[in-house]
Amino acid sequence: MSRLSPSSESSEHGCRGGASPRQRNARTLTYGENVSDFSPASDLRPWQRTAAGAGLLAADGTIAATIFAEMSALALATGAINLGQGFPDEDGPAEVLEAARKAIADGVNQYPPGLGMPVLRQAIAEHQRRWYGLEVDAASEVLVTAGATEALAATLLALVDTGDEVVTFEPYYDAYAALVARAGGVHRTVPLRWPDWRPDHDELRRAVTDRTRVILVNSPHNPTGAVLDTETLRLLVELADRHDAIIVTDEVYEHLSWGAPHIPIATLPGARERTISISSGGKTFSTTGWKIGWLTAPAPLVTAVLAVKQYLTFVNGAPFQPAIAAGLALPDAVFTDAAAALRHRRDVLAAGLEAAGFTVSLPQSGYFLVADAAPPGAADGAAFCRELPDRAGVVGVPVSAFVHPDRQATYRSLVRFAFCKRLEVLEEASRRLASVIEEHRAKRDR
Ligand SMILES: Cc1ncc(COP(=O)(O)O)c(C=O)c1O
Repeated sequence: MSRLSPSSESSEHGCRGGASPRQRNARTLTYGENVSDFSPASDLRPWQRTAAGAGLLAADGTIAATIFAEMSALALATGAINLGQGFPDEDGPAEVLEAARKAIADGVNQYPPGLGMPVLRQAIAEHQRRWYGLEVDAASEVLVTAGATEALAATLLALVDTGDEVVTFEPYYDAYAALVARAGGVHRTVPLRWPDWRPDHDELRRAVTDRTRVILVNSPHNPTGAVLDTETLRLLVELADRHDAIIVTDEVYEHLSWGAPHIPIATLPGARERTISISSGGKTFSTTGWKIGWLTAPAPLVTAVLAVKQYLTFVNGAPFQPAIAAGLALPDAVFTDAAAALRHRRDVLAAGLEAAGFTVSLPQSGYFLVADAAPPGAADGAAFCRELPDRAGVVGVPVSAFVHPDRQATYRSLVRFAFCKRLEVLEEASRRLASVIEEHRAKRDR
């Protein structure tokens, strides 16, 4: 049976057991030198598996807060500038905000249709045509979701069965690991390496096999800001085709790219019929709290995902749906200006971090940059991030939060900082970060 139909076979990979609690919660098999897979023990309860997938389940069974929650709480407690979590501190286009206010005043306050409001589905289809030349049927090939997060959750729960492998790059957006684990899947990762984050094609070839149910792509990428090139995207399509896998592509930063053109994988030959493309209005219009996301895919895949999605949230955000539709119809300059403004912010924060002694990997897209804290004396990024609010009044998150336990060492001294903030906030953060290098030099010279 083709993998394009929503069913799958299972394998022995979902069954783990007999290990100590610590190993059980974070058991990892290594394949060769560079490709690993990960799945929590099958005897954990579903919620424990979810937490274990995200690295949050401790050996004693307690569940830790996510690093984002922990760091945001630290920012609040210390008054530090929060460059940990990726949300803008300024409103997006006035037209989008006004459209939401108008929709509420006009009484658009009840359940919208399960697939999403026609005005938004039409706008999404039009957006795909205008920006990428993709023809999408608004009636059958578009599904509106509660943010990209619900699109990802419903997709993985719909497609991934016990033992199915899901291949992603690593570091990865943390929800991927949690959702794959909840679905009973095996998370197989291919590393992106500091500082240019290019995947090794041979490692990719080794990672995708007949056990692969989904190749989950994220370009532009969080946390690194990398944008995959056409050659890599072509290889992904070739591998998906060879092994009959479905491509799920998370493109929430699609309009926030400046260093390299964003190429939706669905535009490549042979991709569209096996690709679910996910995006969201949150990043593009600085409305992360509205949680209006969507996916576009061939109708049978939309049907498969809808079967799950309709029992998660059913629907969401009625008045925000026409507002995001209004946003998607805005002129090109609104999108390109937002990307240019972010690029400038990236430069301001990167300069601040470099002046403070960090080595910076300049991102080509998105909200975040990754900096190496080893040069100014921090070998352990997680410990450094816990101290940073007190030392410098700034919050970042360790890149180790975006990788599985067996990969922690590779990314140990790296820290992710968000630059989707007002210029004066980034300038003040840069001023504060200067104390990091001053302390380091004082220690060294003692
Ligand atoms: C790569 C990636 N995917 C998905 C999301 C979640 O998007 P949404 O807020 O639309 O659910 C984020 C948010 O940070 C993200 O960085």
